[in-house]
Amino acid sequence: MASQAQNIYDDSAFFSAYGTLPRSQHGLSAAPEWPELRHMVLGGKLPLSNSVRALEGHRVLDLGCGYGWFARWARDNGAAYVQAVDISQNMICRAKQFETDIKDSQSHLNSSSITEIVFETGDIESISFSDNRGRGSFNLVYSSLTFHYVEDLARLYREIHSSLEKGGKLVFSVEHPIYSAPIRPGPSWKTLEDGDQERTIWPLNCYSDEGWRKTSWLGVDGIKKYHRTVETYVNLLLESGFTLTGFKDWAPSLEDVAEHPEWMDERHRPYFLLISAEKN
Ligand SMILES: C[S@@+](CC[C@H](N)C(=O)[O-])C[C@H]1O[C@@H](n2cnc3c(N)ncnc32)[C@H](O)[C@@H]1O
Repeated sequence: MASQAQNIYDDSAFFSAYGTLPRSQHGLSAAPEWPELRHMVLGGKLPLSNSVRALEGHRVLDLGCGYGWFARWARDNGAAYVQAVDISQNMICRAKQFETDIKDSQSHLNSSSITEIVFETGDIESISFSDNRGRGSFNLVYSSLTFHYVEDLARLYREIHSSLEKGGKLVFSVEHPIYSAPIRPGPSWKTLEDGDQERTIWPLNCYSDEGWRKTSWLGVDGIKKYHRTVETYVNLLLESGFTLTGFKDWAPSLEDVAEHPEWMDERHRPYFLLISAEKN
């Protein structure tokens, strides 16, 4: 049985440091892996344009929604119903505040034409997902950078599978297992003397030892993340009845690095793992 989930985003120091990240301040456009995730979500369909709303009529569930950037994007792209869950009350309050601000700024329009997003506080490690039509009616379950906080992934995949209609999609990202594997004092880059050169290397160890890692991030110690191998992420998915439809070891492209030279070292190892799958 899974141990109690950590709720680090309700720690006030951590939450306010998280709010300084570009992706917190600017949303999806500041998340460099977003174009690949969007491609997986759209499955080749065109994104929002004057005439095309790629998620028209979809029923969407966002797990670990944070500020709700993706939930709002899904609504703007035509989703008919959007439910978004997060364990952190801070996150859900912030997401609801965005909704209030949007409604205030559009008060001159007919507000009943805006699809209401159902934001709820909940632990995805233990809750069941069903929308107001019951189980098996979502078309898309999405999750960005949250599943590495979950211990019992097999249960979560089963829940997601039963919340989707046949042909429904799961699209998610996690910190890449090569990134999450090292036991303290990592993760951090090391320098290797190689003849007269110094090479930057990633101190990969303990890759095969699945389990909790305690890391420090944004000046806060003791953040718990669950490391599992790529094989486990994929095999559990297949065992739960999904077909794998997309897979990406995400690292910045050369174009990304041209814009952000400080990301050069990030090309030494993947940073995120992106996966899409379909319910058979
Ligand atoms: C790195 S943030 C990502 C937020 C958002 N998905 C995004 O990409 O902007 C991870 C989120 O997962 C949430 N989270 C972590 N463990 C969770 C759990 N067991 N149940 C629900 N949400 C969880 C955190 O509160 C946080 O909002």
